[in-house]
Amino acid sequence: MVELTDAERAMLDGDAGAATQKAMELLVRYAEALGAERFVETNNVAGVPGSAPPWVKQYYAQDGGDYRAVFSRFDLDSDEVVDVPRMNAFSCHLQGGMDPSLWREQGMSEDAFANFQSDESDVAAHGIQILKTCTPYLAGNVPVMGEHCAWMESSAVVFANSVIGARTNCEGRESTSAAMLAKRIPDWGFHTDDFRRGHHSVDVQVPVDSIFEWGMLGYFVGDAVQDTIPVITGSVSDASLIRHKHFGAAAASSGGVEMYHMVGITPEAPSVEAAFGGAARGERFVYDASARKRIYESLNSVGTSDDVDYVMLGCPHYSIEQIAQAAALIEGRKVHTNSALWVFTSRAVKATADANGYTKILRDAGAYLMTDTCSAISQAVPEGTKVAALDSAKQVHYLPAMMKIEGWYGTTAECIDAACTGKWRGKLS
Ligand code: F3S
Repeated sequence: MVELTDAERAMLDGDAGAATQKAMELLVRYAEALGAERFVETNNVAGVPGSAPPWVKQYYAQDGGDYRAVFSRFDLDSDEVVDVPRMNAFSCHLQGGMDPSLWREQGMSEDAFANFQSDESDVAAHGIQILKTCTPYLAGNVPVMGEHCAWMESSAVVFANSVIGARTNCEGRESTSAAMLAKRIPDWGFHTDDFRRGHHSVDVQVPVDSIFEWGMLGYFVGDAVQDTIPVITGSVSDASLIRHKHFGAAAASSGGVEMYHMVGITPEAPSVEAAFGGAARGERFVYDASARKRIYESLNSVGTSDDVDYVMLGCPHYSIEQIAQAAALIEGRKVHTNSALWVFTSRAVKATADANGYTKILRDAGAYLMTDTCSAISQAVPEGTKVAALDSAKQVHYLPAMMKIEGWYGTTAECIDAACTGKWRGKLS
């Protein structure tokens, strides 16, 4: 039974309005299902509050089919439609379904874009920041160590827990929307010390020092430990924001990793002992040359044709450093007539790319720098795509399966080379 503070009881009694009452009702049901005994306060929530494609609005047509109806009935799971006030917590909107300017190039219809615009103005009117990215930590939302958050998006969650030391479970649409109003989330899972201890060891015996290698190691780790917490030791080097971003996204894709410890690298793992925190040590996995080769082959198992007609970069959304690298790699070259190159980032990072001239360099080469979404989320690829090349282990895990296409995994340079030649020439060195 969840214990409520006076303030929480008052919200449940409706003192803060009908929408917050519905939010608390949902959160109490959620806490009881989890077995949580209390809530923690949160002032950092990232979700997709109230946004919905036209068919969802159509589903709620008898309730008005508008933002109010969707937020009440879908987000808050309410049996009645209530007025939705501005959010109480600091709240951010994660990635969405299309680029705000290049939606035609993504194959979206006028109607879909009109719906997108209407959702966005409703979201903004409710005090939710339009970050529109899977990397809120690159777009102005960086929690601090120990901060209780309520975030959706697996790659952002694993980054927040592991790299920053913030505390969040991988929440859903309903719990994040409710948390935006109630500023509460169940005190369960990654919010508690015990839950953050390591379960299994991963001994890295080959050099892991580039984005490409960190991505492959992440894919190996997720496959090995599934949804538990790995404690990683060995020859991992050159840690950086980008490498963690690719590692965590891959581990959350091949498994369900929501937190990892890298001994001597991540904040809650100054030593192996600290990472396990006295918990029993489970299995030991070894990442050696044969494991590395096996992972590379697995990531490239859905590639047969070397005719590449689409290259997608930016999963998770590219940082400004990655965009600068991509621009440097393609400057003076052209995307092949049989291919296309789409690079994804957030609006905040694109503003810097625009100022630095990277967007123009990419455009002059025949590529697009897009925001808000990615090919997996929008299910949009250039027309006729049969074979994609990707520098993200996460994206190669999802996109070929979702779009029924072939996919190659390689370095950013190999992917840009494929975009400019129309041919896949990647290999494991
Ligand atoms: Fe982001 Fe899309 Fe990858 S939303 S994490 S770029 S699957």
